[in-house]
Formats: sequence, C-alpha cells, structure tokens
Amino acid sequence: MKLLIDPEAKTLMYWHEGKEEQIDLYSKKAFELLSHQWLKVGWNQKHVYTFSWLGRPIIQLPEDALRIQEVIYKVQPDVIIETGVAHGGSLIYYASICHAIGRGRIIGVDIEIREHNKKAITTHKLAPLITLIEGSSVAPEVVMAVKHRIKSDETVLVILDSNHVKSHVMRELQAYHSLVSIGSYIVATDGSMKDLYDVPRGNPDWQWDNPTAAATEFAKGHPEFLQEQPAWLFNESELSENITHWPGAYLKRLR
Ligand SMILES: C[S@@+](CC[C@H](N)C(=O)[O-])C[C@H]1O[C@@H](n2cnc3c(N)ncnc32)[C@H](O)[C@@H]1O
Repeated sequence: MKLLIDPEAKTLMYWHEGKEEQIDLYSKKAFELLSHQWLKVGWNQKHVYTFSWLGRPIIQLPEDALRIQEVIYKVQPDVIIETGVAHGGSLIYYASICHAIGRGRIIGVDIEIREHNKKAITTHKLAPLITLIEGSSVAPEVVMAVKHRIKSDETVLVILDSNHVKSHVMRELQAYHSLVSIGSYIVATDGSMKDLYDVPRGNPDWQWDNPTAAATEFAKGHPEFLQEQPAWLFNESELSENITHWPGAYLKRLR
C-alpha cells in the first residue's frame, strides 16, 4: 500500500497490489484509507496510552470506547465480564455506563492486578459495581469463579482484552462463550494487530497470530455466533465502518 495526499488538488493517490488509483481526498474511501494508516501511526506512537476515564488510565481508542458504549446501551447487560484489567480504566468506564443507565455490574479478570491499581479500583466511587478476580482468564478455577457470580437468567456481555495471541483468545472464547446471552456479544478486542505487523513496534507473526483470526475461526465452528460490526445507533453520514483497533471483534449470539 502506498498513499500520496495532495491537499491542493484535493486528491488521494493510492497503489495497492499493483493497482494505481486517484480518488477524491474528501471521499468516504479516502477517509477509510487515511484512517487505516492513521491507526497504524497512532498505535506506534502509543496514542491509546494517553487517555483516562474518571481518574484511571484506559488503554483504548476513543472510538472503540464510544462504540462499545452504544452496544452496552442497546444490550442493557446485567453483567459485563472483562478479561484484562491493567490500570482499571475500562472497568471504571463500563461501570460508569452501568451506573448511568441504572443497570449492570462488572467482573474484571487479570492475571496480575498490581497493588496500586487494585487500591485505586477498590476505593473508586464506582467500586461497588466492580468485582475483581485475579488469575489467568483461562484457568479453570478462574472461569468457575466468574460463572459462580452470574445467575442463569442474567444478560451477559463479555469483552476479551487480556493476552491477544490467537491461541489465548481462542481459549477465552471457548471458556466464556456459553455465558453470552442471545442478542449480546463476546468481543475479541485488539485485532488490529493483523494490520500492525509491519509498523516499527509490530511483529510479522501478528499477520496470523491475532484476536480477529481467533474470532473468525471461532465463528466458523459456532453458527450460533455471527461475526459482525454492531449497527450504529446514529448515523447522518455515508460512513459505515468503525475506525477501530477492534476489527472483526464482535461476535453476536444469535441463538
Ligand atoms: C491491554 S491490557 C488491558 C487494558 C484494559 N482493558 C484497558 O482498557 O485499560 C492487558 C491486560 O491483560 C492482562 N493479562 C495478560 N495475560 C492474561 C491472562 N492470561 N489472563 C488474564 N489477564 C491477562 C495483563 O496483565 C494486562 O493487564
């Protein structure tokens, strides 16, 4: 892929797989091509490591955070399970949405929750909505501990944001998919690794070893799940694609 922006001529030239094309710089297609490249540059610059939510660092692209807020609002879950807590910003973010809509609580799982993060999460105003479980997200006793905290009639949404290698995400999908309610989702985040393999901080193996690959393989073996981007709840544009680090992340339970 090669891009040449000419703001004066208002054109974008791009070369892809031997094909050369010139398009309107202000078109939908140009926006998508430039956004794709912007995501790669931003990831290399650690853009997603610059945000916080209600006092805690949240390692997410704001568009991904806003999009999952739409999903939470639509699904109205009783329980959100998140694997991968880190500093706790995403847990606090999901808890704040639950608090605002008056429904839902959060279970956060992480292999290691550092003391200062644990303290900040457990003393936060939204702590009453959050349960922390420390251990590997795929350890049987951890999966069991999560399951014990959920009642059979509760609406459950699962967000996988821990170890992003394909084999681990696959094991998480196997371990948690049965908890997902019909109409809700299990979300394998950070699949943009597949596009980040060639950036300076990237890794060539990420072309195949990534969460999107796990989600796609999982969906093939589980027809009760559909891999699709959730419909936007508001759109007065011609755009249709999330600008995202979570491509192919959303697996919707159909039945
Ligand atoms: C990308 S960070 C999570 C970011 C957080 N969700 C946020 O949005 O701010 C990944 C976390 O996964 C955790 N992790 C890595 N391997 C894990 C495993 N096997 N089980 C559970 N958590 C794991 C790491 O300790 C780290 O805190």
